[in-house]
Amino acid sequence: MINIVLVGFMGTGKTAVAKELARRLKREYVSLDELIETKEKRTIPKIFAESGESYFRDVESHVAKEVSNKENLVIDAGGGVVIREENVLNLKKSGVLICLKASPEVILARTKHAKHRPLLNVSNPQEKIQELLKTREPYYARVDYSVDTSNLTISEVVEKVLEIIGK
Ligand code: S3P
Repeated sequence: MINIVLVGFMGTGKTAVAKELARRLKREYVSLDELIETKEKRTIPKIFAESGESYFRDVESHVAKEVSNKENLVIDAGGGVVIREENVLNLKKSGVLICLKASPEVILARTKHAKHRPLLNVSNPQEKIQELLKTREPYYARVDYSVDTSNLTISEVVEKVLEIIGK
């Protein structure tokens, strides 16, 4: 069975939805962010602070390629994974990509109390979200399926994803 890969901006619900999907489908849940932290033996904020974003992106590409050799997984990919075309091509080889979306207001509300996302740990997260959404929009638009999670519960999003994959 091919992998189900959830992509999309930070705060769109990827982690919660991927965990619930994995439970429902009795599949293994895999988080690329967790694989990166395990491989690097340090947290994502530390990787960004000590080695910079482009180093982080290299490790992200490495783990994305590794999981693409496996199957039957529900993969929770980080929000920036789509920026590199090689990642999208690798993940597509063994999986169906589904992009979760949400409005900037919902993203801000869902992310504002968390401190584990270095890109949003800035003085004006609202502006940063708008800026990043604008630059990433073309990348997210290339993913075949998308679900707007702004007004949906986790189980409602799970149902929509199950419909997409024909389950
Ligand atoms: C990032 C999203 C994060 C994590 C890192 C960078 C991004 O994952 O990979 O902080 O560039 O959008 P989540 O989308 O799971 O928060």
